[in-house]
Amino acid sequence: MAFNIAVAGKGGTGKSTLSALIIRYITEELGKPVSAVDADPNASLGALLGVHVQNTIADIREEILEKKADFAGMSKERYIEYAIEESIIEKEKYDLLTMGRPEGPKCYCYVNNLLRKYMDKVGTTYPFVVTDNEAGMEHISRRTTNNVDLLLIVSEPTVVGVLTIHRILKLADSLPVSIKKKLCILNRVPKSGIHENLQQKLEELGIEISSIFPFDEEVYDTAACGASVFEISRENDLYVKIGKFLQKHIPVSLLEKSSGVQV
Ligand SMILES: Nc1ncnc2c1ncn2[C@@H]1O[C@H](COP(=O)(O)OP(=O)(O)O)[C@@H](O)[C@H]1O
Ligand SMILES: [Mg+2]
Repeated sequence: MAFNIAVAGKGGTGKSTLSALIIRYITEELGKPVSAVDADPNASLGALLGVHVQNTIADIREEILEKKADFAGMSKERYIEYAIEESIIEKEKYDLLTMGRPEGPKCYCYVNNLLRKYMDKVGTTYPFVVTDNEAGMEHISRRTTNNVDLLLIVSEPTVVGVLTIHRILKLADSLPVSIKKKLCILNRVPKSGIHENLQQKLEELGIEISSIFPFDEEVYDTAACGASVFEISRENDLYVKIGKFLQKHIPVSLLEKSSGVQV
């Protein structure tokens, strides 16, 4: 089974940036293929990885619902399977599936069921799945039956951010999947460190922070000019820190470097 890493948190906290850097580390430093899933309606993982996403799962849903899809002689089920496969971007080291806009009130069981089938298959064929989640973690609860090995809850270093961590931790406990480990991360922490009020709030809520990721000028500039995370230097502080973090939390058997990546 794949080692399943899910990244969650409020918008703007750095979920996509951290997801993209994690994908880079696993593919480049560990030499292992990754199935990447952008489950945030505000899809941006593709852009951060430097790929152009044309089709999303939301597009397929819409086509089916508005009966615009041309099944070309295929059954509806076969057509959706084909459309899902077509929407996946296949790179040398990773595959990317983008969910796109959220669902409306109508029932999309058909697409969701096939998507679950696909996700379950991915879970058995890839060593790693990395999912950039939406705030409500809908994707985890409805579209995959795979367990989550590592849930990373990302927050800005503010009291409001920490209150959101608290909410997400509770939400995670109510999801119908097993989450083996939940780790809270404060991201974009300034040089001045963490405010004492924030420290107090963390203690009050009983939240343990497993890692503090600094504000990084190079990461910020890379995003500002629209470059991909693959442009960031290997020696970059945040990238090195993410690497050490993964080395600590990924099982040793998966850390051995593979010479070639095969998807
Ligand atoms: N550690 C960091 N240092 C500097 N900038 C960061 C860091 N993490 C994220 N950012 C920047 O913060 C902004 C929001 O990050 P993003 O990953 O898009 O957040 P989210 O996916 O949670 O909405 C982006 O401009 C990104 O470049
Ligand atoms: Mg994002």
